[in-house]
Amino acid sequence: MEVENMYITLKTCVNGDPSESNLELTSTRLSLKIEEGSKDMIVKNLYVSIDPYQINRMKKYSSSQGTITFATQLVPREKIDAFGVGRVVVSSNPDFKKDDLVKGVLGWEEYSIVQPGSIISKIATTEFPLSYNLGVLGTSGLTAYSGLYEICKPKKGEKVFVSAASGSVGNLVGQFAKLSGCYVVGCAGSKKKVDMLKDKLGFDDAFNYKEEPDLKSALKRYFPEGIDIYFDNVGAEMLDAAVANMNLLGRVAACGVIAEYTDEGKRAAPNMLDVIYKRITIRGFLTYDHHDKHAGFISSISDHLRQGRIHVLEDISYGLENVPSAFAGLFRGDNIGKKIVKLADPREGIL
Ligand SMILES: NC(=O)c1ccc[n+]([C@@H]2O[C@H](COP(=O)([O-])OP(=O)(O)OC[C@H]3O[C@@H](n4cnc5c(N)ncnc54)[C@H](OP(=O)(O)O)[C@@H]3O)[C@@H](O)[C@H]2O)c1
Repeated sequence: MEVENMYITLKTCVNGDPSESNLELTSTRLSLKIEEGSKDMIVKNLYVSIDPYQINRMKKYSSSQGTITFATQLVPREKIDAFGVGRVVVSSNPDFKKDDLVKGVLGWEEYSIVQPGSIISKIATTEFPLSYNLGVLGTSGLTAYSGLYEICKPKKGEKVFVSAASGSVGNLVGQFAKLSGCYVVGCAGSKKKVDMLKDKLGFDDAFNYKEEPDLKSALKRYFPEGIDIYFDNVGAEMLDAAVANMNLLGRVAACGVIAEYTDEGKRAAPNMLDVIYKRITIRGFLTYDHHDKHAGFISSISDHLRQGRIHVLEDISYGLENVPSAFAGLFRGDNIGKKIVKLADPREGIL
């Protein structure tokens, strides 16, 4: 049997801010029969994740492209692999059978062919909505969890600053830090987001970075006793300002530099004398390296969810054709929480 498989492809490389026109929707015929001797499976995608890192794959050059398989440069007109949640339609892989629900590297497409050895696993429980497997119980959650606990090692009473705080990773960092008894301040790009951080997520304070002409003095106001931990999602001048306000033995988790993704000329230039004399640790990390913590992470966060200690923020669009606007929207600050595109209803009869 054959189906029409719609997918998103790169039309033109991104230079600066991404726009919908960098991507396009196209389609091809796909046979749902697996070739003899292969251990592939075919997955019908239900939800796909929209992540900022994809922009660096869409550029003519980014230093990230040669570092790790999922950061490789995208080839125009080819399919785009991306995290997702789906249902197995047909499988010759002995570890998966038809109708298994799976999460891992799938694609911005309706059906994905998954080869053995790919980053893919069964979804063990349907206790929570399937979409959580891309956010709070997925890569964003593990990023917040491993970055905060492995790198920053928060202690009760410490002062924590998080940027892009209303985003998928940032909102969880702030909520986890509050659960650890820290004083937490976040920054975000609108009043609505700032209010939500304080009123709904329980941040101690929050501010709109777009309204602060001097970030160093802004952070001095919000942290009169200094910052112990900075979870950096944006880089550039925010990192400089955070370092200038850090306490002795401060820790910075360098998670992402979204303010630099769209502006090649923009670079953080923290005062290295501060770093040295205040013995500040700035450590980059990739969630990919922390999959050994996955079981502990799922168990701990599931428990928080059951007890209602974490608010889940999801921002879901519908239909593959909305992937380009969902993606470009990340860089305009359109999203609140985890940006996801839903492609099919898990309860619908699907192939
Ligand atoms: N190291 C890892 O393994 C890893 C894993 C996942 C994500 N990350 C990184 O973590 C960061 C957050 O990712 P996410 O998936 O949680 O995305 P997200 O925060 O849900 O979405 C991006 C947000 O970034 C903010 N933003 C966009 N352009 C900005 C700019 N120029 N300056 C400041 N803020 C800007 C926007 O919010 P505002 O309205 O607040 O501007 C936007 O909503 C990204 O840098 C990403 O690359 C790293």
